[in-house]
Amino acid sequence: MPDTDPKESGQRYSLQTVSLLFPYFKKYGVRLTAGFAALLGVDFFQLWVPRFIKLAVDELEKGVATQAGLLRIAGFILLLALGIAVCRFVWRYFVIGFSRMLERDLRDRLLSHLLTLDRVFFQRHTTGELMALTTNDLSAVQLACGMGLIASVDAVVMTVAALGFMIYIDPLLTLIAVAPMPVLAVITRFLSARLHKRFRKVQEQFEKLTEFARSTLTTIRLVKAYTQESPQTMRFGRMGEEYIQQNLKLATVQGILFPISGLVANSSLLLVLFFGGSLTIKGIITAGDFVAFISYLFMLTWPMMAIGWVTNLFQRGATSLGRIQRILDEKPILFDNADGGTLQPVTGNISLKHLSFSYPGQSEPVLDDISLDIRPGLLGVIGKTGCGKSTLCNIIARLYPVDDGKLYWDGRDVNSLTLSNVRGSIAYVPQEVTLFSETLHFNITLGKADASKEQVEKVARAAAIHEDIEALPEGYETRIGEKGVKLSGGQRQRIALARALLLDRPVIIIDDGLSAVDMETEHEIISSMAGYLKGRTCINVSHRVAPLVDADEILVMDKGRITAKGKHSFLLKSSSYYATIYKYQTEAQGRKP
Ligand SMILES: Nc1ncnc2c1ncn2[C@@H]1O[C@H](COP(=O)(O)OP(=O)(O)O)[C@@H](O)[C@H]1O
Ligand SMILES: [Mg+2]
Repeated sequence: MPDTDPKESGQRYSLQTVSLLFPYFKKYGVRLTAGFAALLGVDFFQLWVPRFIKLAVDELEKGVATQAGLLRIAGFILLLALGIAVCRFVWRYFVIGFSRMLERDLRDRLLSHLLTLDRVFFQRHTTGELMALTTNDLSAVQLACGMGLIASVDAVVMTVAALGFMIYIDPLLTLIAVAPMPVLAVITRFLSARLHKRFRKVQEQFEKLTEFARSTLTTIRLVKAYTQESPQTMRFGRMGEEYIQQNLKLATVQGILFPISGLVANSSLLLVLFFGGSLTIKGIITAGDFVAFISYLFMLTWPMMAIGWVTNLFQRGATSLGRIQRILDEKPILFDNADGGTLQPVTGNISLKHLSFSYPGQSEPVLDDISLDIRPGLLGVIGKTGCGKSTLCNIIARLYPVDDGKLYWDGRDVNSLTLSNVRGSIAYVPQEVTLFSETLHFNITLGKADASKEQVEKVARAAAIHEDIEALPEGYETRIGEKGVKLSGGQRQRIALARALLLDRPVIIIDDGLSAVDMETEHEIISSMAGYLKGRTCINVSHRVAPLVDADEILVMDKGRITAKGKHSFLLKSSSYYATIYKYQTEAQGRKP
C-alpha cells in the first residue's frame, strides 16, 4: 500500500500520536488514580439507587410497607446521593485538574520546541497558525483528556454494571432492550470519520482568521495610510462567514449523531415498557424489578448518548494532537554539534572557502563560490539590493547550515564547533530593529541585564545616541513605544547598535543597521567605534561608501559574487561600480545646502 498523507489517514496517525500523551499520564498517575477511584464511587452509588427503589416498590405492592420502613429507604437513598455529590466533586477536581496540567505541559513543550526551530520553519508557518495551535488545538486536547476520558470510562463502567443488574433481573428482557443498540454503533462509526474531517476544516479556517486579525493589527498604520479599513473589514467578514459555514457543516454531523442516540434510547424504552410490562403482569418479575429495570435502562441511555459526544471529543482531540505532533516532529535544519568543541577565546579570524549557498527549494545560488579571509578590523560590504549581503552575514552567523570545509572560525571548521559558541561570539545588528515597550535602559541592556550605568553610557556614546537619550525628560528611564516616546528610525537603529556593543563580543555584524542614520552620523559612529573595535572583527554592510573609506577592507558584491575587494583608494581605481557610487554619493552630498 502506498504511503498515505498523515492528514488523510487520521486513524493510523492518531495511534502513534496518542503515545505523545503517555508521559503525562505517568507523571500525573496518582492524581488520575484518585480521580478515577472517585468516579467509580459515583457509579457504584448510582447503581445502588434502583435497588432501594425496588425494595420500596415491592414492599408497597405486597402491602407490607410501613412509614418508618419507607423513611429508612429514603434515608439510604439520601446517603447515596451525598456520596455521589462528594465523589463527583473529587473526580472533577482531580481529573479536570489533570487535563489542565497536561495542557500547560504540552503548551510549554510546544513553545520551547518552537524556539529551537529555524527561520525556514517560520517562513513556512504563519503566526496565526502557530497561535491557533497553542489555543484552540490545545483546548481540544485538554477537553478530550478531561471530560472525554471521564465520560468514556464512566460510560464503559455504567454500561457493564447496568447491564449486569439488568441481566440479573431478566436476561431475555435485557436482550430485547439492547437490540436497537448495534444500529447506534454502526451510525457512530460512519459519522465519526466525517466529524474528524469537518473539525479539521474548522480549525484550519480559525487559523486563517487568527492570522488575518494578527497581520491587520500589526500593520495597522499601513492599513490606515492606505485607507484599507473597510476592505479589510469586508475580507475579515468573509472569512468569518466561511468559519460559520465550516462550523455549520460540523454542526450538521453532530446534529445527526445526537438525536439518533436519543431515538435509539427511546425505542429501547418502548420495547421494555411493552415486553417488561407483560412479564410483570404475568408475575415473572416483580413490579419493583420492573421499576428498577427502567431505572437501569435510563442509566444506559447516558452512555449511549455519550458514545456520540465522546467520539466527537476524541476525534477533535486526536485531530488537534495530530496537528501539534506535526509541529513537534519538525527538526531544526541546523543541528547543533552537541559534542562539538568550543573556541576560547574567539579571535575573530573567519575564513570562507569556495562557499556557495542557495535557500531551501531554490536552484539559483544566492552566494556563488565565495572565498574570503576576514581578520580583526573593519570590513565594509557594499553592493546592490539582493546581491546576497544579508545572506553572507547570516551564513557567517550560523543561521543556515554549511557543508564541511567551507567556513572556518579561527582555523576550525564551524561544523566542529557548537552553535552557541559561534553565535555567542557575535553581536548582530539587523536592519529591522526590534524594541520592546520598555525603558531605554531595558532595551539597551537586553543581552546583559547587570551592566553598570557607566557601561551603558559608554556604548550609548559610541553609538552616538547618548545625547539624544539625555535630552529626553526621563533619560534612560524613558519608556518607548506604545506607552512612551516615539523614536525616529535612525534613533532606533542606534539603540540597537548600543545594545550590540554592550554585549562586548569579538565579532560584530552590522547588516545595513545604520541605513536610517544620516551619512554624517554614520561616519561619526564608525569613527567613534574605532577605539571599541580594536582587536575585534566588525562587518559593516552599508549602502553608503563614505563611512567605509577608513575600512581595512571593502567587499564589492554583485549577484552573489565578490567582484572586487581592497581598500578605498584601491577600489576607486579598480572597481568602476565602486568609483561610480562614490562619485554619485559625494556629489549628492556636496549639493546639499
Ligand atoms: N529567506 C529567504 N528565502 C529565500 N530567498 C531569500 C531569502 N532571503 C533572501 N533571499 C533571496 O536571496 C537573494 C539575496 O538576498 P539578501 O542576502 O537579503 O540580499 P541583500 O542583503 O544584499 O539585499 C535575494 O534574491 C533574495 O530574494
Ligand atoms: Mg540585506
